[in-house]
Amino acid sequence: MDFDRFGFGTYQMTDRDECITAVETALDIGYRHIDTAQGYDNEAYVGEALADSAVDREDVFVASKLATANLGYDDVVATTRKSAERLGVDTIDLMYVHWPLNTYDPEETLSGLAAIAEEGVVDHVGLSNFTPELLEEAIDGLNDRGVSLFAHQVECHPLLQQEELRSYAREDDHWLVAYSPIARGEVFDVPEIQDVAEKHDATPAQVSLAWLLAKENVAVIPKAATPAHIRENYGAVDLELDEEDVRKIDGIDREHRVVDGDWTPWE
Ligand SMILES: NC(=O)c1ccc[n+]([C@@H]2O[C@H](COP(=O)([O-])OP(=O)(O)OC[C@H]3O[C@@H](n4cnc5c(N)ncnc54)[C@H](OP(=O)(O)O)[C@@H]3O)[C@@H](O)[C@H]2O)c1
Repeated sequence: MDFDRFGFGTYQMTDRDECITAVETALDIGYRHIDTAQGYDNEAYVGEALADSAVDREDVFVASKLATANLGYDDVVATTRKSAERLGVDTIDLMYVHWPLNTYDPEETLSGLAAIAEEGVVDHVGLSNFTPELLEEAIDGLNDRGVSLFAHQVECHPLLQQEELRSYAREDDHWLVAYSPIARGEVFDVPEIQDVAEKHDATPAQVSLAWLLAKENVAVIPKAATPAHIRENYGAVDLELDEEDVRKIDGIDREHRVVDGDWTPWE
């Protein structure tokens, strides 16, 4: 399945009906990339929505993430197979390491990723929440095992622009998948974003997403359970910002993380 830069996030969708309805709504609207994780406790619900949807499984890019308890070699292999079963797919399009924490060990984890790619239970491998140093080490380790990194998923939005990781993504030619791309609503009150939204008769959520899509090698995975939000966000696909808009948002001089804590790899 081809990668689609406009994905659908499912974090916190632990209620079965809510998750199935939201994923089916997203697929109806046009989303063709669904982002889940072992840790979200909803892979089976995503699987049900994929099976029930009128959209063919072959037309949807499905991504999941290995929980930090499952990063030893044997667990990478065994639990990825379990994820595929829960998702109801033969092949997971993209499997990430959710965080380089807990049982993460470059030798074990990267060998495990190479093994699941070789076995064919995943099509591509990804990493998430790696610092530039850990990322470089992991990319080298993957390349040594004959595997290319497909995507690095990190928080990224106008209040956390991630220049260094974006530039690295372009150099290495992998996708930077932007999570919390509307900063869970915190971009709505930013004057520069409001100005651009007004100019285009768009919403701040759409502007934040369109700004990310204006960047090379960047994909977005906004989450919404509310049908109106799911539809509104997808409207960003048709919003083209001009250079002046992009520059205005580039100029927002803030470094604000919504996912942070003393347990993170960057602390
Ligand atoms: N790799 C990681 O460690 C990691 C970490 C965080 C997130 N992620 C992934 O990235 C996805 C997105 O990130 P996120 O869920 O943290 O944050 P987000 O997508 O930036 O924001 C989601 C929140 O914004 C609300 N919302 C969405 N669209 C809206 C709109 N148009 N107007 C008003 N409110 C709107 C949603 O409300 P409703 O749901 O009520 O509609 C929800 O509360 C996650 O679901 C997950 O798949 C990955």
